[in-house]
Amino acid sequence: RPPTSQMEEVAILKGSDCRAKGAAPGFKVAVLGASGGIGQPLSLLMKMNPLVSVLHLYDVVNTPGVTADISHMNTGAVVRGFLGQSQLESALTGMDLVIIPAGIPRKPGMTRDDLFNINAGIVRTLCEGIAKCCPNAIVNVISNPVNSTVPIAAEVFKKAGTYDPKRLLGVTTLDVVRANTFVGEVLGLDPRDVNVPVVGGHAGVTILPLLSQVNPPCSFTSEEISYLTSRIQNGGTEVVEAKAGAGSATLSMAYAAAKFADACLRGLRGDAGIVECSYIACQVTLVTLAHFLTKLTLPKQWF
Ligand code: NAD
Ligand code: LMR
Repeated sequence: RPPTSQMEEVAILKGSDCRAKGAAPGFKVAVLGASGGIGQPLSLLMKMNPLVSVLHLYDVVNTPGVTADISHMNTGAVVRGFLGQSQLESALTGMDLVIIPAGIPRKPGMTRDDLFNINAGIVRTLCEGIAKCCPNAIVNVISNPVNSTVPIAAEVFKKAGTYDPKRLLGVTTLDVVRANTFVGEVLGLDPRDVNVPVVGGHAGVTILPLLSQVNPPCSFTSEEISYLTSRIQNGGTEVVEAKAGAGSATLSMAYAAAKFADACLRGLRGDAGIVECSYIACQVTLVTLAHFLTKLTLPKQWF
């Protein structure tokens, strides 16, 4: 059927730029690295989030295709694509929340630290853009090694004079998601009803599931504690090895990142009592660390 005027009213497609009339009020969100293994499903999930009114998809490759594809979903968010460094500033201007899954993933035999040299440079460039174009945005850093990319982002923002430690959040939700799943399996509970706080960092033994603070309250044998701690700490490696060179966790990560981003948006909206685990700047009593994965209450972070 040829396009009718009514259809034209609903969507005006110009290249990769789709403006849906009557888009719902909400927040402006950018995904940097939107064409990647995490970026694509994460962008899809953000397009489904009713709190998102504008969704900017930025990458150095393939954003026209990803954007055209996602823009056909009949949800409220207006989707725009941005390709390459020359369009980074346009992608970032006016954003409320910026999510960063840009960077290379691990292959079997690598540690997350082996990604540092390449990913640190990527995160630095993207954060320089954020400091310039949307200095008040909440920033969710997914790129590994999170234990180092978050401090790098902090240094970029400090240098630019825009640093607000409460707005810079390392995304470690996947550790909680995994912990909930594995604990649910051991206890025979629906994983949706389980909440395991995970603190520390996002690499190997720095991932510390607090199995004594699981909700609903429960107890474990020492064998269960040993099994669960090891499985949660090595969840990323389990996926890297199963993918056998084709990358690391993407789908569960997109789910986790979308869940965390939704909590951030609800926090921005002013909802009370949202508690999440995230890798943020803080001071720990025994050892002074610049950053630590901890539980935080989101609206209190910002207002
Ligand atoms: P991927 O290679 O599939 O995708 C990465 C994307 O980043 C690609 O589309 C690439 O073009 C893009 N990119 C590269 N340089 C860029 C730049 N300068 N600007 C914008 N985009 C750029 O990788 P992936 O599987 O999506 O993983 C991405 C990152 O997320 C990795 O570093 C991985 O280790 C990390 N990760 C973190 C967690 C976590 O829990 N925080 C979980 C899984 C993966
Ligand atoms: C994960 O935990 O799955 C990510 O950090 C990716 C990785 O390299 O393990």
